[in-house]
Amino acid sequence: MTRPKVAIIGAGQVGATTAWNLARTNLADIALVDIVEGLAQGKALDMMHASALEHLTVTVEGSTDYAAIRESRIVVVTAGLARKPGMTREDLLKANAEIVRPIVEQVVRHAPQAILIMVTNPLDVMTYLAYTATGWERSRVLGMAGVLDGARFAYGIAQRLGVAPDQVAPMVLGTHGDTMVCLPRHTTVNGKRLTDLLPPDDVAALVQRTRDAGAEIVALLKAGSAFYAPGSSVVAMVRAILQNAQTAMTASAILTGEYGCHGIALGVPVRLGATGLAEIIQIDLTSEERQALQAAAATVQSGLQALGLVGAKKS
Ligand code: APR
Repeated sequence: MTRPKVAIIGAGQVGATTAWNLARTNLADIALVDIVEGLAQGKALDMMHASALEHLTVTVEGSTDYAAIRESRIVVVTAGLARKPGMTREDLLKANAEIVRPIVEQVVRHAPQAILIMVTNPLDVMTYLAYTATGWERSRVLGMAGVLDGARFAYGIAQRLGVAPDQVAPMVLGTHGDTMVCLPRHTTVNGKRLTDLLPPDDVAALVQRTRDAGAEIVALLKAGSAFYAPGSSVVAMVRAILQNAQTAMTASAILTGEYGCHGIALGVPVRLGATGLAEIIQIDLTSEERQALQAAAATVQSGLQALGLVGAKKS
């Protein structure tokens, strides 16, 4: 059986960390592409040098040439600028749109059957941009954010309650940004609702820290943004697709009426499998939660407007 290939565009902090995490699953050969001559090649070779130590059976190939991504089952796009202290993800909008658009064109050319996972920020806008630029069905264009935001929420809750983080089943929707929608009512710890375990003020503090988690790391690092947890989050999505796991998680998906939204990408609960997006899961929301999601949708909409992408594609 031939091994699947996963391409990762951008061999910076997030791209290289994703490649390294993925390589150690031995699930797929990896093509790592970066515009900077030698960067992807050097990092790929460094990973390959660890083969004996890490029992790697897969290959990691670095390149500046998009021909390296041909026949990839999945293409992960991490290329772009990362935030600097004080910058919002929206500040990155136009600069990253200019980087991402030609990359997506190369993906269409060299890996026309692939499933695309966008990571470049602002995530939800970039996911919709990729959807319009590819012309692909929506099942093949996804964005990674909900897994990461959920993992951050789970970590905070676990710290507060003194339980293991994997005993928390988080639910975080909306944008990967200030209009993130943490749903404490739908977040459970060993089957119990978070809202039954902690008083509202404590829950609100955990929600706020999750929303600010990316900025907290940017402020600490002073140069660059998070990459370890983002790398693990991408691998969770890649694994679900390669193994046709049908796993429920949150991802940025193109909405065609779900949750009252149309013509945008937004973080919603989904099931992922071999064809990419298998289902958008509809969960019940209170009117307050629905309003929060509408506010998130409005942020994405204004980003799309700034890029002239509103109504760019019929769905
Ligand atoms: N083609 C290929 N690679 C590119 C291109 C391009 N046109 N433009 C930039 N790159 C590469 C850079 O050379 C760099 O190696 O993208 C990489 C980005 O890496 P970092 O600067 O380390 O940024 P990183 O922390 O990985 O974040 C990348 O992911 O989480 C998001 O907000 C983050 O948008 C940012 C992206």
